[in-house]
Amino acid sequence: MIVLLQPEYRDHSWYDIVGHGNSTSHNPKGDTLYADDILTHPSYRRQGIGTALMNARKELCLKMGLRRIIGGGRLYNYCLYANLMSPDDYAKLVVKKMLVDPVLSFDLRNEFKFIRILSNYIADSRSLNFASFIEWTMTKPGQIKKVLAR
Ligand SMILES: CC(C)(COP(=O)(O)OP(=O)(O)OC[C@H]1O[C@@H](n2cnc3c(N)ncnc32)[C@H](O)[C@@H]1OP(=O)(O)O)[C@@H](O)C(=O)NCCC(=O)NCCS
Repeated sequence: MIVLLQPEYRDHSWYDIVGHGNSTSHNPKGDTLYADDILTHPSYRRQGIGTALMNARKELCLKMGLRRIIGGGRLYNYCLYANLMSPDDYAKLVVKKMLVDPVLSFDLRNEFKFIRILSNYIADSRSLNFASFIEWTMTKPGQIKKVLAR
């Protein structure tokens, strides 16, 4: 789905950005690919399938001439730390690799950048409804060639 966020890091929920599940927020004039849910079968995880799906998104983004990919990754293990710290502190520790989160660590390894926390993103008991606003853009010279060569 292509979206246009103004301002570019504006607050939103999953419900807003996917048009309440009907993709009505698709905007062909937008500049951003919205990465909706990514899910692999539990029996086939940790074999590179999620990364292959992420690479396909990057390829699509480039081929469509969009400037970035954004997503909201639910803070999967935040429920285990909620009594100890804020969601922002939790995400920052994951960014520093002092904690591992099955979703945010995966996003970071796939070259997404953590922008900030989104509250009330999606009703979810693991993340307590918190998500990380993540963004992928071309950052290094030669990266376009590398993505398209995969
Ligand atoms: C997040 C998710 C999509 C990742 O899918 P996946 O297929 O396991 O992804 P990959 O195999 O590419 O990468 C996962 C990890 O396995 C590792 N890995 C990849 N290939 C591997 C291999 N051959 N051997 C060992 N480890 C491997 C990767 O390095 C990666 O490590 P990381 O956790 O440090 O990032 C999956 O865990 C999932 O479906 N989660 C539940 C749904 C969900 O919450 N989705 C996010 C919605 S916001």
